[in-house]
Amino acid sequence: MTTVEIRGRIGPRALEDLLGTWANGGQSAYEALADRIRLLIIDGRLPTGTRLPAERELAETLGRSRTTIVSAYRQLRETGHLVSVRGSGSATMLPPTPLPAGPEPHDVVVDFARAAPAAISGLENVVERATRNIGTVLTKTGFDLVGSVELRERIAAHYAARGLPTSADEIMITLGAQHAIALVSRTLLRPADRVLVESPTYPHALDAFRGAGGRLVTTPVTTRGWDLDQLRDTLERVRPALAYLQLDFQNPTGASMPPDQRDDVIRAARRTGTVIVIDDTTADLDLGRGWTDVPFAARADTAVGGRSSGHAGGARSPRTHAAGQPAVITLGSLGKSVWGGLRIGWVRADGDVLRSLRAARAASDLGNPELEQLIACEVFDDYPALLERRIAQLRHQRDVLVGELRSRMPSWDVPVPDGGASLWVGLGAPISSTLALFGLTRGVHVIAGPRFGADGAFERFARIPYTLSAEDLVRGVHALADTARALPALPLPAGTTQLAEVV
Ligand SMILES: Cc1ncc(COP(=O)(O)O)c(C=O)c1O
Repeated sequence: MTTVEIRGRIGPRALEDLLGTWANGGQSAYEALADRIRLLIIDGRLPTGTRLPAERELAETLGRSRTTIVSAYRQLRETGHLVSVRGSGSATMLPPTPLPAGPEPHDVVVDFARAAPAAISGLENVVERATRNIGTVLTKTGFDLVGSVELRERIAAHYAARGLPTSADEIMITLGAQHAIALVSRTLLRPADRVLVESPTYPHALDAFRGAGGRLVTTPVTTRGWDLDQLRDTLERVRPALAYLQLDFQNPTGASMPPDQRDDVIRAARRTGTVIVIDDTTADLDLGRGWTDVPFAARADTAVGGRSSGHAGGARSPRTHAAGQPAVITLGSLGKSVWGGLRIGWVRADGDVLRSLRAARAASDLGNPELEQLIACEVFDDYPALLERRIAQLRHQRDVLVGELRSRMPSWDVPVPDGGASLWVGLGAPISSTLALFGLTRGVHVIAGPRFGADGAFERFARIPYTLSAEDLVRGVHALADTARALPALPLPAGTTQLAEVV
């Protein structure tokens, strides 16, 4: 018997809102309803493990007969998108989708797999300045689990300038943000702890949480933002140990959470005792959002009238926090704004958390490269000018990519994000895995939408980064468009061809 873990529920009114206008003249009502619910599941708007309303309740809300709802649910069970759970009604799920056997990949000419730009222009001058200071570190052993005090001071000053008073003792330097995510998960999570993640989200964070034994619980996010009711409801029902959120230019959607919603998250996390991990890797890539906010941890401090970091007293466990104080761990990186090749990231957290991270760290690595830290110090001394160049470059490349996609693939939905490094493109049909697979035969490597979901949804989306040169972006879009046009003649994954168009 198929089993599914109930991770959320949706009421009849909320489902009615999500369904939108679903009746289709050419289909019977139950088929149209089943198709629409199936699409919501495939797109990730109805996370798997969500309990649907009872048939009678939904029939009343939608003004349809109970038979229509019963038949729609039955059809969803038959296609593997719904499972009956004893005593708990029906829950959404995704059937395993076999990928079509694809042709042999050829050399990749345009790589859309990485949403990370090459080094910022002018970095060579910064490196040259840094190497002149090499004498200052050659007398050290080079084994330092928290990072150089000079760099930690600069990062602390960077937070302070943005409205979050921070001391160097609240910062640990890591080998990029991914290292920070892995270290935090492995240190703070116990086996089977729940971790709330956005869906879609950054895939290697999912890998890290799973690797640390965490059980993922999802909350949907689209290019238009978060469903706050769902987020709050999931937090309060599941009471996850940890919530991993990217609130500024989320990867892959580019969405930003408005300040008032951030306060709601803080209040809910305070009630549930959830540690909030904010990944700010893309937060500085503001291409014209039109508003700025203090860092999330500063909001958490203000909301409870205390500090969320830095002054932990006594022997608290890193998983608990002082009365009424939501614990916030902030992760940052120079990977997108300056260069991923530096491998410089950091954790901002309170003393207890940093002590635990430091104790756990030696098992996997023994510190940060000194020369790269010297370079990062020089980077911070020049940061506004470097960032301005990065933003101008990304803004231009984003506009080129949007223009090319809209003219070559007019049926695709190409929202324009106001920050970050990529577009989250709606493909209008569940072809993402097939497009990714067959794109390789035309020299373009794109990551299929399902890689960004915790459970294989998002077959109707692809993430297309604008971190390549304008010339490469144009070549890549041509190759993708050629691939997409050839797709109707190619075999599609079983069970996806019957789906209605997305709204
Ligand atoms: C949201 C997010 N977090 C973390 C990382 C990893 O960053 P780093 O290169 O600093 O390890 C990335 C890189 O793509 C990312 O997009």
